[in-house]
Amino acid sequence: MSNRPLNVGLVGGGRGAFIVHPHQKAIHFDGTRRVVAGALFPDPKIALAEAEKWPYPIRGYGSYDDMIAAQRDLPADQRLDYVLIVTPNFVHFDPAMKALKAGIPVFCEKPLTVTLKESADLVKAVRKLNMPFGVAHTYLGHWTSRFSRYIVRSGLLGEVRWVDSYYIQGWLATKVEATGNQQAVWRTNPKMAGGSGCGGDIGTHALMQLRYVTGLNVTQLSAQLERFVEGRALDDHFTIYCVLNNGAKALVRASQISIGHKNDLGIEVCGTKGTLRWRQEEPESITIHLANQPDRVYWRGAVTPGDGFLPKDVPADLMAEPTAPSGHPEAFHDAFARLHRCFEADVRKWQAKEKFACDGSKYANVEDGWTGIAFIETCLKSSARKGAWMRMPKPI
Ligand SMILES: NC(=O)c1ccc[n+]([C@@H]2O[C@H](COP(=O)([O-])OP(=O)(O)OC[C@H]3O[C@@H](n4cnc5c(N)ncnc54)[C@H](O)[C@@H]3O)[C@@H](O)[C@H]2O)c1
Repeated sequence: MSNRPLNVGLVGGGRGAFIVHPHQKAIHFDGTRRVVAGALFPDPKIALAEAEKWPYPIRGYGSYDDMIAAQRDLPADQRLDYVLIVTPNFVHFDPAMKALKAGIPVFCEKPLTVTLKESADLVKAVRKLNMPFGVAHTYLGHWTSRFSRYIVRSGLLGEVRWVDSYYIQGWLATKVEATGNQQAVWRTNPKMAGGSGCGGDIGTHALMQLRYVTGLNVTQLSAQLERFVEGRALDDHFTIYCVLNNGAKALVRASQISIGHKNDLGIEVCGTKGTLRWRQEEPESITIHLANQPDRVYWRGAVTPGDGFLPKDVPADLMAEPTAPSGHPEAFHDAFARLHRCFEADVRKWQAKEKFACDGSKYANVEDGWTGIAFIETCLKSSARKGAWMRMPKPI
């Protein structure tokens, strides 16, 4: 297998864009991936000018169509090994489908698409073409999320009874979109964001965190999508009561009007033997509460199997994975890097015609993306019927 760095092409990312920057740092984290090209803006002239201004040399294109079409004429070692899609939600489906059809794996921002039909079409294309496809649910990339998943899914907390999974922000507590704030303008526009504002933007992260850590799925839900800021077209507060497929109950909630909360994503899983708590604003540790025992706080890099709670056989790959000793903090960028590192591994296997996983255990896959949109569409229907209980569609 070649060890040349993988070439990544950006779709979106010019002129004051946000999430491209954590991604591009994460892409360069290990020296085994690099950004080489970009279609950075919808206007071709601006796209090319933005590429000229990029902090290191990249090949600029006027559009993602041009970038994708240009690949077939490039020497093999200069072609894109994957594209990263960091555009507003309504510009995910088209570049993703076109890249797949051109034989280029895709790492796409969440929410996957703005309609369930588009998500289903992507699932079908990925399955038919058998290609790697990742969805950027950032918080799965924390080592502590991996560790939480191990603890809950191996039954150390007993049977899961209750989950509170949340993502609470306060930045849209006033009509920020009226000030021209780039990120607020499209997030509050149904044509660009999709049918749910807060739910699509960050409720999908809360859902994904619940599914990843517990391995459980929502089967029924009762949703309240609320809009507190007058004149806003989409929900800015999202509260969903859920039934999970083991019969447990859960709250999946998100808010963008809760002043004081920044990126307050967290999860609490209550089982018959104990409770796990984790918050992404303090991502280096998880707390375990067992009845009538002192609380246990596990720090990344300082975990001892066989300690009276953890068994001796915690998976070796999970134990081997932390790279810096505990107390040298990992955070947001490290989480993104872990996702790209795992996606890279799958892309390299796919290129070598080996079996690759892309199974949702290391990063969200296209089926996870579909589930996020199915959840949003079911929430919209339930909320329109004043919170009536609705069934989630069967997994695709
Ligand atoms: N995973 C996370 O934690 C996370 C965090 C923030 C945003 N996001 C997601 O990332 C995406 C982008 O969000 P953002 O906040 O960075 O938005 P942004 O407005 O900051 O950036 C969007 C970029 O896309 C470009 N763009 C728009 N249409 C384009 C087109 N047709 N061709 C090329 N470029 C185009 C814009 O010019 C801009 O550079 C959204 O889907 C959002 O939900 C994810």
